[in-house]
Amino acid sequence: MRFFILWVAVCVHVGQSDVPIVSRWDVFSTKTLYRWAHDTTRPNPNSDYVISYNNGTCRAAHVNMVIRHGARFPTKGSIADVHELVEKLKRNKRIDLYPEIDSWVSPYHADLESMLNSEGVLEQSALGQRTYTRYQRLFDLNGDSASFVSTNKQRTKASANSFYNGAYNTSGGCLVRETECVNPLKKPLPSLIIDDHRLRYYDSCESFESETLNNKTNMAEFSNYETTADFINIIQSIKSNLGINESVGLNADDVYTLYDLCAYDQYTLNPNMPPVWCRLLSDAQREVLEYGQDIETWYENMYSQPINSVLACPLVRSMFEHLEASMNDSWNYNQTILDNRYKAAVFQFAHSETVATLMAALGLYKDTRPLLATNRAAMTNRLFKTSTLLPYSSNLAFVLYACDVNRNDVNSTRVFLLQLFVNERVVRIPGCSTDACPFEVVRQRYAGLINNCNIKDICDDDENDTSGASTIFINLTGGAFVFFLGSIIIIL
Ligand SMILES: *[C@@H]1O[C@H](CO)[C@@H](O)[C@H](O)[C@H]1NC(C)=O
Ligand SMILES: *[C@@H]1O[C@H](CO)[C@@H](O)[C@H](O)[C@H]1NC(C)=O
Ligand SMILES: *[C@@H]1O[C@H](CO)[C@@H](O)[C@H](O)[C@H]1NC(C)=O
Ligand SMILES: *[C@@H]1O[C@H](CO)[C@@H](O)[C@H](O)[C@H]1NC(C)=O
Ligand SMILES: *[C@@H]1O[C@H](CO)[C@@H](O)[C@H](O)[C@H]1NC(C)=O
Repeated sequence: MRFFILWVAVCVHVGQSDVPIVSRWDVFSTKTLYRWAHDTTRPNPNSDYVISYNNGTCRAAHVNMVIRHGARFPTKGSIADVHELVEKLKRNKRIDLYPEIDSWVSPYHADLESMLNSEGVLEQSALGQRTYTRYQRLFDLNGDSASFVSTNKQRTKASANSFYNGAYNTSGGCLVRETECVNPLKKPLPSLIIDDHRLRYYDSCESFESETLNNKTNMAEFSNYETTADFINIIQSIKSNLGINESVGLNADDVYTLYDLCAYDQYTLNPNMPPVWCRLLSDAQREVLEYGQDIETWYENMYSQPINSVLACPLVRSMFEHLEASMNDSWNYNQTILDNRYKAAVFQFAHSETVATLMAALGLYKDTRPLLATNRAAMTNRLFKTSTLLPYSSNLAFVLYACDVNRNDVNSTRVFLLQLFVNERVVRIPGCSTDACPFEVVRQRYAGLINNCNIKDICDDDENDTSGASTIFINLTGGAFVFFLGSIIIIL
């Protein structure tokens, strides 16, 4: 990654100013490529397969991973926004400035909307390869027992395929259910299970829509952000760079579209120097827009409304069911697979909303203050940063380790540990004092969420119904959040 940034910094010197205009790429919020934000060098074999605990050795027994799809073409709505913006700029800019804009031809065709693109294919295949390598021995022994689950979208299904091909070092293989399947492995291919209930629990969830997404009060910080001086200065600077008449309106959506378009063109066209759109914004301005996007995602998916922290319970429950099943059904001290119910891994391909609400359910990246229109400077070192946490191909995994501490005592209780990995790096599980944490401690922490997960009640918009989100929520985190919510209300 470092190499990549250096290359860019050298190339942009031909721009209008002496300062490199894109010196960092890890600021494109959810349009950030995984490799722009994370180290993607190949890990050493089995780097996360064995850990030691109380003088014993623990080996990975199950990997349960949730993965955002790889880089994709813009959505239909985003393509329309891009085309509208470019037309507006072409119509109103001074003809002698940034002539590349006048000659720009859109590579975003309606029939490709939202589809995984070639960058996304590479991202997923490399992630699959790294994941295989990190737990190589587990997959060498049990690779056939991995299962693949996806939402019913082209970008997630295609991500699953690319990940599979990377992990098992094949090319052109595709999971059963996809059309035009070839089978380069000469053994049964796993099938791809489509499960939107597990992975798109936020779809048509009425109370999530009314309390969070369509709640103007909830989204007020995001809309207020565009009236701050920093934001207005960005609009002014784009207009003056392009010589656009004062009377021509450029709104916040146009600015966010321009920011996205820089990333889209960069990863779609792989040009020799950053696209013209990137040169209309400075690094500092991109950081201002990144914070705007972080505010939006925080209020939509994170710790703004109690429901956001329980919405992912179907996924959390499913993850723990698989973790427990792999402990109970299939594992013994001799590491022999006793029956074919055993799953060495479950790979689930979904969306940024899935990964974000899963993080909220697990209590991760909870800053002590909410993100506000007015506190960007104070939040510079915030935990919740979408460019880092939720780029394309972002991922979160619980890995179960089986320890052979009492191998010779058939009556002893077996010891199972969990580690949490976010974007392939270990992250301390809330409530644990060590990275590798006893399974029961973690299971207990999320018991309220797992045991009371009735998504129908949670999503039921009936305000008289008290059996839904709020009840579960109080069981889950109690006083801490009440205090936290209190502080939001006071600040607002
Ligand atoms: C680990 O081994 C050392 C040395 O044999 C011993 O003193 C210590 O008590 C052991 N720790 C545990 C947790 O078993
Ligand atoms: C992947 O497969 C190719 C050809 O099938 C082979 O040349 C290569 O060594 C394999 N790579 C790994 C890491 O196994
Ligand atoms: C909308 O958001 C505000 C601010 O968080 C909250 O107090 C209110 O209860 C929400 N409205 C609904 C209908 O949930
Ligand atoms: C800007 O727009 C105003 C109003 O439409 C017009 O009178 C003025 O001539 C324009 N200025 C330039 C520099 O085009
Ligand atoms: C295990 O427990 C059984 C039943 O309590 C007992 O008969 C047996 O001796 C125990 N084995 C060991 C190795 O302690």
